[in-house]
Amino acid sequence: MGEVDTAFVQAPEHRPKSKVIVDEGIPLIDLSPINHQNEDTTPDSSILHLIQKIGCACKEWGFFQVINHKVSLEKRERIEEAARKFFALSLEEKLKVRRDEVNVLGYFEAEHTKNVRDWKEIYDFNVQEPTFIPPLVEPDDEQNVQFQWDNRWPQNPPDFKEACKEYAQEVEKLAYKLMELVALSLGLVPNRFRGYFTHNTSNIRLNHYPPCPYPHLALGLGRHKDTGVLTVLAQDDVGGLEVRRKSDGEWIRVKPISNSFIINVGDMIQVWSNDAYESVEHRVMVNSEKDRFSIPFFLKPALYTDVMPLEELLDDRNPPIYRPINWGKFRSARMRSNFAKSHVQNLQIYQFKFPKTESKSIN
Ligand code: OGA
Ligand code: NI
Repeated sequence: MGEVDTAFVQAPEHRPKSKVIVDEGIPLIDLSPINHQNEDTTPDSSILHLIQKIGCACKEWGFFQVINHKVSLEKRERIEEAARKFFALSLEEKLKVRRDEVNVLGYFEAEHTKNVRDWKEIYDFNVQEPTFIPPLVEPDDEQNVQFQWDNRWPQNPPDFKEACKEYAQEVEKLAYKLMELVALSLGLVPNRFRGYFTHNTSNIRLNHYPPCPYPHLALGLGRHKDTGVLTVLAQDDVGGLEVRRKSDGEWIRVKPISNSFIINVGDMIQVWSNDAYESVEHRVMVNSEKDRFSIPFFLKPALYTDVMPLEELLDDRNPPIYRPINWGKFRSARMRSNFAKSHVQNLQIYQFKFPKTESKSIN
């Protein structure tokens, strides 16, 4: 990625603006109350307080940072090390596990795909293997393209696969714990979401943002929302992630805190919660001197899941805003447009909104 290619130059409206607020950050939440939780007793006041904080953070920011999360630091350091070693391999080596238009997992690098303008390289793997793929129910449906979801493990570094798998197990547990807290904060039973993940399509991405000599022209990752359910992101100490503050639309830099995770609400929580918790835009700035590494875990439901506003949250005054979104079809449509030319608009959840006047009311 040494040479500057015009493909990386962002259109003016996407370029980083100089005004970035650093001081006021996303909420910082200490998860220690759940570590002392006794299964037999009703939640104590510290847990109730935690649930309330999570609810506020989801509503006001769509983002928060957690500490005392119980994810093994040793396992986190091990995958971080494996990622560094993998990205340091020759391009030729890395391209051996390159993703393609059919199998969407593996290594992916912008120079070899004309449509991506982000200054980074990535490696994706699925947490559940093999990913459960439902039979084609509507063979004629063009939306129903079958992608392959096979992990492609590189031979080097030798412990790469093990490091990835071990970390995935740890961080997945944290994601489910957080989903219980999110459920409680919405007034739902704690395991309300659990069934959607029996055949989950969750994945982990290793991101490497190399130093960029033109930080004012490029972005590490352009502004976007996460489509899945919940993201649990480990970032290193370089920093560069920015979150769009809901109250005024300003970009807020997330300060790196060691051994913490950044959590954000994805589009599917927005739909389930009928817009109570919204998925929020974020982006990554490049650094002119330092390499940056980050590892998001994207919690995603089973492909056959129809995501729709949850009945418990609806009434005459709060009718469903969205029609059901089939996760498998939604995902396929997104993947197809990711491989198409850059001007193709990605499918978005707002396209599933009922027109205002037609809003269904439930009786
Ligand atoms: C993403 C993302 C942030 C980061 O991969 O969707 O937002 O800090 N990453 O790398
Ligand atoms: Ni993201």
